[in-house]
Amino acid sequence: MNVPTESSTPIKILVVDDTPANIDILFQTLEPEGCTLSVATSGEDALNLVSEIQPDLILLDIMMPGIDGYETCRRLKEDESTCNIPVIFLTAKNQTKDIVIGFSAGGVDYITKPFRQEEVCARIRKHIQLQTLKNKLEEQNQTLSELNETKNRLLGMASHDLRNPLTSIQGYSKFLLSKGDQLKEGARKEFLEIIHSASGNMLALVNDLLNLSVIESGKLTLSLKSSSIGELIEERVRLYDYMAQGKNIKLLTSLEDMPECSFDPQRIGQVLDNLLTNAIKFTPPGSKIHISLKRINKRVQVSVRDEGPGIKEEERDKLFLPFGKLSSKPTGGEGGTGLGLAIAKKMIDAHHGKMKVHSETGKGTEFSFEIPLD
Ligand SMILES: Nc1ncnc2c1ncn2[C@@H]1O[C@H](COP(=O)(O)OP(=O)(O)OP(=O)(O)O)[C@@H](O)[C@H]1O
Ligand SMILES: [Mg+2]
Repeated sequence: MNVPTESSTPIKILVVDDTPANIDILFQTLEPEGCTLSVATSGEDALNLVSEIQPDLILLDIMMPGIDGYETCRRLKEDESTCNIPVIFLTAKNQTKDIVIGFSAGGVDYITKPFRQEEVCARIRKHIQLQTLKNKLEEQNQTLSELNETKNRLLGMASHDLRNPLTSIQGYSKFLLSKGDQLKEGARKEFLEIIHSASGNMLALVNDLLNLSVIESGKLTLSLKSSSIGELIEERVRLYDYMAQGKNIKLLTSLEDMPECSFDPQRIGQVLDNLLTNAIKFTPPGSKIHISLKRINKRVQVSVRDEGPGIKEEERDKLFLPFGKLSSKPTGGEGGTGLGLAIAKKMIDAHHGKMKVHSETGKGTEFSFEIPLD
């Protein structure tokens, strides 16, 4: 019967007892069971040793010189760093009232001397098991509460971003309903255009949120196809050239010839869309954006480099977080929700790729991603 249960690492036990004969018996009982024992011969000694040893469990005598076992246990339980270590009293004091005091001092169990060796081993094993489960549960609770906080934060930001366009849709449609027939055709059309564009913004945000929730729930499936990434880049650059021209920005491409490779054109297209629109959005009018495609060993590297304001070092941690809008603002009044890069990074991760950013404040930013060629 080995005491260690879930893992093969030995259980560290701190024995606190001032009687050498008792300590000997515990060594004879527990060492063959795979436990590593350390000894303290007084309560004070135990309190000094415990943080250094970090035992998995403490076997604590009660009657000792100096502070007794009850007080030692109370002090262990008061200290945040030691309160989770299970303490089993192992003592000759066998009156009911002694046992009750032991439990109220914070002990998880109470064994009276003379003890049966098998019983001590079985109890230690059970308490180690319980402690392991308790630790796991606490870790899971911590993760759940962090996830819940993130979810609430995202929900708050999403509703905030949905409220603005919704307010203008409501305002303009109400106006059209009540006074629409008094408006000139041009004004009516302008109002309808505002409604159309606001609802388009809402749709884009809802689509991004859906994308994110599919990714977060681990249900993102890629439709891999053998395609030309160069052609995809050319197609997307043509699509955004119009937007760039509006700000007198030049999109310059340098694309190496590349064999077809396997990727999801829709998802990689989405990544390119975000990198290109970001570069156009955050770059001052009149500048240049360089788009390149290179082969690096067995990987394809795509990069989009702009001459914009750059991204401050201290803000880079937030870049790929949902709703991570930073101090760099659009230079032409464009909108955005701060979901684009969070989604792009997950799409690249799903392709077993890497997303990188290199930025110099005041000089520009280069976003690049690499995906495997095969
Ligand atoms: N090329 C860039 N230059 C400077 N800042 C950038 C650049 N790209 C992104 N950023 C900063 O990072 C933030 C996050 O970018 P992201 O693409 O996730 O969001 P967004 O463009 O604001 O909105 P969305 O992409 O959801 O429409 C941006 O708000 C901006 O502050
Ligand atoms: Mg973006």
